[in-house]
Amino acid sequence: MKNDIQDRADIEMMVNTFYGKVRESIVLGYIFDNVAQVNWESHLPRMYSFWASVLLDEQSYSGNTMHKHLELNKITSLTNVEFSEWLLLFNQTVSELFEGDKADEAKVRATNIARLMFHKINTA
Ligand code: HEM
Repeated sequence: MKNDIQDRADIEMMVNTFYGKVRESIVLGYIFDNVAQVNWESHLPRMYSFWASVLLDEQSYSGNTMHKHLELNKITSLTNVEFSEWLLLFNQTVSELFEGDKADEAKVRATNIARLMFHKINTA
């Protein structure tokens, strides 16, 4: 039996593991490292805050997630292929590390946000 997502340390482990997989992914890695040239030292803490706000009611994230991805889609197409890979890696990460209500919630929230993002990108 695995633990559920309980605190900030769990969120950090989830985010670090997820972006480790993203960077190794043939579909997604180059988007982060080459196209967007993500500064990981600032991106990872932002993502800790994002997920802590979503799952632990921390309210430490402020940003415009949808806008960022609409802009990104202008320089590299974010299609079904990229979103499916993103969700696959995210859900894999959560299932590998955790089990429980919060773990389930993480996967549901990620799926819903990804769906909304995909919809906004494709109707913009
Ligand atoms: C095709 C799928 C996706 C790709 C390729 C992608 C890529 C990126 C990239 C390149 C950044 C910018 C990092 C930077 O320059 O600082 C970013 C930021 C971010 N992404 Fe995604 N993303 C995807 C899907 C998602 C989904 C589904 C979520 C939420 C569940 C999400 C949440 C975020 C958040 C919160 C930020 C930070 C925005 C900010 O406040 O600056 N992304 N993403």
